[in-house]
Amino acid sequence: MLDRMKTFLPSVLEAIGNTPLVALDRIVGNRPGRILLKLEFFSPGYSIKDRIALKIIEAAERKGTLKPGGTVVELTSGNTGTGLAVVCAVKGYKLIAVMSEGNSVERRRMLEALGARVELVPQAGGSCPGQVSKEDLDLVEQRTVELTRELGAFRADQFHNLSNVEAHELTTGPEIWEQTQGKVAAFIGTVGTAGTFMGVARALKKRNAAIRTYAVEPAGAPILAGGPVVNTRHKIQGAGYAQVPPLWDPEFCDGYIGITDEETIETARQLARQEGIFAGFSTGANVAAALRIAETATPGALIVTTANDSGLKYLSTDLFP
Ligand SMILES: Cc1ncc(COP(=O)(O)O)c(C=O)c1O
Repeated sequence: MLDRMKTFLPSVLEAIGNTPLVALDRIVGNRPGRILLKLEFFSPGYSIKDRIALKIIEAAERKGTLKPGGTVVELTSGNTGTGLAVVCAVKGYKLIAVMSEGNSVERRRMLEALGARVELVPQAGGSCPGQVSKEDLDLVEQRTVELTRELGAFRADQFHNLSNVEAHELTTGPEIWEQTQGKVAAFIGTVGTAGTFMGVARALKKRNAAIRTYAVEPAGAPILAGGPVVNTRHKIQGAGYAQVPPLWDPEFCDGYIGITDEETIETARQLARQEGIFAGFSTGANVAAALRIAETATPGALIVTTANDSGLKYLSTDLFP
């Protein structure tokens, strides 16, 4: 691995990952546990998804499913698309990102700036702008399948692609282990495709089976916890799709935490004002859940979670009005 502080990098792809891990001591206050936040917006596409984009494309190149100059298609809430756009720009592939009209406009613009074609799918009847529901996602899936077939393209397929889990098992998890000198006590994460959660949980539990892992879900749609799904419309963009993702394996999860939109938003704002960390909705949910675990943790226990993306991606939403 190149040390970016000691040399120049051959491309921006070598700047993906190796993100800082920062203590949230101001928000945590006198709670016994200590929360460490991994700032994934330090990657070139400003999100945790750059890691999987790179792994998925590299694996497809190795297998020969993606040929030089080929076309990549992906269903995305924006972050995976942006990661793929960064990788495709450097490697010379065409990218078509299929996304719901319900995702924020910043994500769309950034994809286009990076040279991707964005295929926008109108929301299902009854869906709210800014909130992508399960019904919206089903429509995006249909369009993605059609386009991949029509174009004979390579579909990154983050919901099924094992490179998604592997990226986090080989990078995010080991980084957390090293940055805490193996002292991490718990990991907390929202679940979209489950790639982050499964990969990090596998990496950490392999090193120390006593590390606890907690999945964060929208309070109204605790599908992984087996609770009643009463409201699939929530603000945690990129996570909580009210269906069990194919990559999910409950064996690696020790507990579930339901978080409301209000807690998500309030915590994201607190994070900005008290810690100077400007992040998105799912980061707010992650930190809100981590605060709950910190309440009852043993003194000094290190609770790790991720800042999945930047607040800049949500300037058009009500997160920072
Ligand atoms: C902002 C944001 N948070 C969380 C997630 C969930 O991560 P994963 O798909 O690894 O479960 C995503 C996924 O796209 C995301 O975009």
